Amino acid sequence: TGLYFAGLAGETPAYPLTFTGLEAAARDTMEHRLWDYVSGGAGDEHTQRGNVAAFERWGILPRMLSGAADRDLSVDLFGHTLRAPIFLAPIGVLGVMTDDEHGDLATAAASAASGVPMVASTLMQDPMEEVAAALGGTPGFFQLYTPNDRELAESFVRRAEASGFRGIVVTLDTWTLGYRPRDLQHATFPQLRGACLANYTSDPVFRSRLAAPPGEDPAAAAFQWALTFGNPTLTWDDLAWLRGLTDLPLLLKGICHPDDVRRAKDAGVDGIYCSNHGGRQAASAPALDLLPAVVDAAEGLPVLFDSGVRSGADIVKALALGATAVGIGRPYGYGAVLGGTAGIEFVLSCLLAEADLTMGLNGYASIAELTRDVLVRIQA
Ligand code: FNR
Repeated sequence: TGLYFAGLAGETPAYPLTFTGLEAAARDTMEHRLWDYVSGGAGDEHTQRGNVAAFERWGILPRMLSGAADRDLSVDLFGHTLRAPIFLAPIGVLGVMTDDEHGDLATAAASAASGVPMVASTLMQDPMEEVAAALGGTPGFFQLYTPNDRELAESFVRRAEASGFRGIVVTLDTWTLGYRPRDLQHATFPQLRGACLANYTSDPVFRSRLAAPPGEDPAAAAFQWALTFGNPTLTWDDLAWLRGLTDLPLLLKGICHPDDVRRAKDAGVDGIYCSNHGGRQAASAPALDLLPAVVDAAEGLPVLFDSGVRSGADIVKALALGATAVGIGRPYGYGAVLGGTAGIEFVLSCLLAEADLTMGLNGYASIAELTRDVLVRIQA
């Protein structure tokens, strides 16, 4: 809350304090088609607007005189005590959001400085070993897009283990890219494909699939990437194989149906990550509205959540609906655009200051007090 007190004392903040302000400033800064990549989504984009609207339909019941002047926002996640129940959701091709193309390292540095865990995307522009090393003592997680090549998938997981990542998050909702009109309109994908190769070209199995070293023939490396990126044939039958790849905590991202939660539990996963990918993948798939049923079906298994979190109050609401930890997506992407590591740290500080004050002013001193009955439906 240093930021809050600095503001009360009359200090002007370095960056905009609200999501709307961050969004506008980032839009002014970015090349148009890259802006469309980060901010855009599937179909007519009502899915991503719906994510924000879903939060607006909830209010937080205020309780007075409950002695919430000192708050504790810490939570335990897979044996790690986090000082706050948030994390950096995986964002691919983060390098397009910073001047020097090292957006992954910039994000890892923000994670190290803030103690907020990073989930590092398969589509890193920096090799995962370097990103993991930059995380310092903050636990990091590796997000796997399961390639259409089992040996490559296994190699990614081995590298993640050797680098010190503390868990594997398998994203299931992106076996092919969503129907994103803005990206298709600008034909942005080849540029992004070229930009996100570092984690692949630093992989021994990926390199073994190439006729020439990637530096000599980048086009062939990009083509190989396109051949192996997604795996449309992956089904529940493959879960045993995925589970068998690692003893690290294994989470499935994109699970929003209670029956899928039960199947995931049967397959021995350690956590569920409820998300609609920020409305970028399946059009019209809700996220927040499905969270309570996912939490119920998880029966105590940790449930991570993202999609539409724009403020500290949103964090409080997702926690009250049962999330164990809440993922920040586009807001930190815009922080990266505006100020690299410092911008991301700033955004996280704002979100946490607001979450903390929202809890305190509403009379809740700990995360454990945030249960479903602290929320009330707002009538339209
Ligand atoms: C993403 N997301 C994502 N998810 C993932 O599992 N792997 C990835 O590489 C990416 N890449 C990616 C790029 C960009 C530009 C965005 C905005 C998002 C989805 C991300 O993890 C998260 O689910 C959403 O960002 C949450 O929605 P909001 O809060 O950003 O709207």
